[in-house]
Amino acid sequence: MGLITTDIDLVIHHLRQGHIAAIPTETVYGLAGNAEDEQAIAKIFALKNRPLNHPLIMHVAPGWDLSPWVSKQASYVQALIDQFWPGPLTIVLPCREGQVNPLVNAGQASVAIRCPSHPMAIAVLQGLGKPLVAPSANAFGKISPTTAHHVQQNLADDDLLILDGGRCTVGIESTIIAALDESGYQILRQGSIDADSLSQVVPDCELDVTQTIRVPGRLANHYQPQKPLYCFDKLDVMKQFCQTHGLRVYVISFVKNEQFADYLGYPLPNDPKLAAYELYYQLHRADQSEAEVIALELPPNTTAWQGVLERAIKAGR
Ligand code: TXA
Ligand code: MG
Repeated sequence: MGLITTDIDLVIHHLRQGHIAAIPTETVYGLAGNAEDEQAIAKIFALKNRPLNHPLIMHVAPGWDLSPWVSKQASYVQALIDQFWPGPLTIVLPCREGQVNPLVNAGQASVAIRCPSHPMAIAVLQGLGKPLVAPSANAFGKISPTTAHHVQQNLADDDLLILDGGRCTVGIESTIIAALDESGYQILRQGSIDADSLSQVVPDCELDVTQTIRVPGRLANHYQPQKPLYCFDKLDVMKQFCQTHGLRVYVISFVKNEQFADYLGYPLPNDPKLAAYELYYQLHRADQSEAEVIALELPPNTTAWQGVLERAIKAGR
């Protein structure tokens, strides 16, 4: 069990010594280490049990110059930075050769950069004065933590320092885009900043993701709770499933009406951002509950719901 603290200076000191620490961001908690300290980076991979070919996101504070790490910034990128940073948008950019540790970007010619908006994350970055690599603070393949307590429950390291910044307000990981050349960007991971919000800022720049790019870290099942989770797009099928399982189902649906009144569970708000805030939190609650399986009603397959939908499908089996 890690040690939960609200002492930002302690965490900065700890990171300066080459240790790693869990920190809050607005999306999910991250397992952070100095991006320029190879041993710290190696500790992150080891604690998460993460394969080395899954590159990490480098986190920076607002206003930091990216040119030490980035070789070229396509013309549309600055408008996205101005609009969405600090905030839940990660941008994969061409990397300056030899300036990013190959453990960070899996030896690729690109680096993923994000500027988080959580005030504690910003304070840690500013205090340290170095970029932080920070994958989600969960064991590889599991659902991401949205509270300090989730980190404590799910990462087995008694010495881990966990900075408590409350419950994450976004609730799912950042949107990731690859912005590697002038022709446009590709969405690599859906998130709360959806395709429409991006194209409002830079119209006609989105490319088809299936085209060219090698996308590491995109496994079909990637965000799994401990208990088996089944996704349903039809409510009557979900009802049948619940009946055959007796009362051992944790029901996460958009209607927690009288039909599911006897089950453990939670009604998801019918709004993509509010539902994102609840999704992992409720999956963690389901894992802690007495239920044996989880039934999740899928949201509609529209642009605004892609972030929640992608997580739900990958969490299911
Ligand atoms: O919201 C977030 O992004 C959270 C918080 C803690 O900041 N972090 C996060 O990190 O979700 P992680 O490691 O769980 O996911 C990073 C994703 C992986 O899917 C990885 O493949 C992708 O970013 N990625 C990192 N560098 C990349 C690169 N150079 N090219 C393509 N994908 C990259
Ligand atoms: Mg992750």
